[in-house]
Amino acid sequence: MTFSGESREFERVADLLRPFAEAGKLTVVPGNHDVWTEDAVETARFLRALGPDGRGMKKAAPSYPHVVPLGADAVLVALDSARYGDDPWTTPGRLGSEQLKAARELAREHAKQGRAVLLAFHHHVVLPPERVDSDAHVARMPLADADQVVRLVAEQPIAAVLHGHRHTAFRVDLPGAEGPTPVLCAGSASRVADEPVRRARAYVYEIDRSGVRSVEALVAGLE
Ligand SMILES: [Fe+2]
Repeated sequence: MTFSGESREFERVADLLRPFAEAGKLTVVPGNHDVWTEDAVETARFLRALGPDGRGMKKAAPSYPHVVPLGADAVLVALDSARYGDDPWTTPGRLGSEQLKAARELAREHAKQGRAVLLAFHHHVVLPPERVDSDAHVARMPLADADQVVRLVAEQPIAAVLHGHRHTAFRVDLPGAEGPTPVLCAGSASRVADEPVRRARAYVYEIDRSGVRSVEALVAGLE
């Protein structure tokens, strides 16, 4: 949401996203840039300005996993993988055992009720199949417990894993409990780049109880 976790950046992004938050159509997860400084973390800027639904919180409280029904057929489980480190350029993300355990329970419970379960968090789980040179430095900040996500996907019916962090769009399928599970990176939503694969973009998903039916890419500068 922000570049360096500063108060004025959070104020600005909260303003920009307010119409979506007020309509109840917004879910956000923090990324590594939102916990860039110790100050940003200690004052819980992300939660106070935005929180998981973009409305902000008067008193910051643990908010992830944040479970969002997507109609009657699917549910989004939003997780926080952003962790502070002295050197933000090399600090990996981490979900941690508590969130992973909670995600496992949620996946089991909702799948039993016939819903597709989608996980969403910031950091990448696996490397993109195609190397994009200018994206390489992000590889130094992976998800430290990505192996646990791979295991979770193998053992529980997860319909898809949605993430960001890599400034490039790609899809990798992981072996899932009920067949191949797509891991989708939409790429950066705000990047100004000449390389088409890195240009600012977003994904629009069509989802039903069987999972992701289609993915449409919206790319800045393309009609
Ligand atoms: Fe990132």
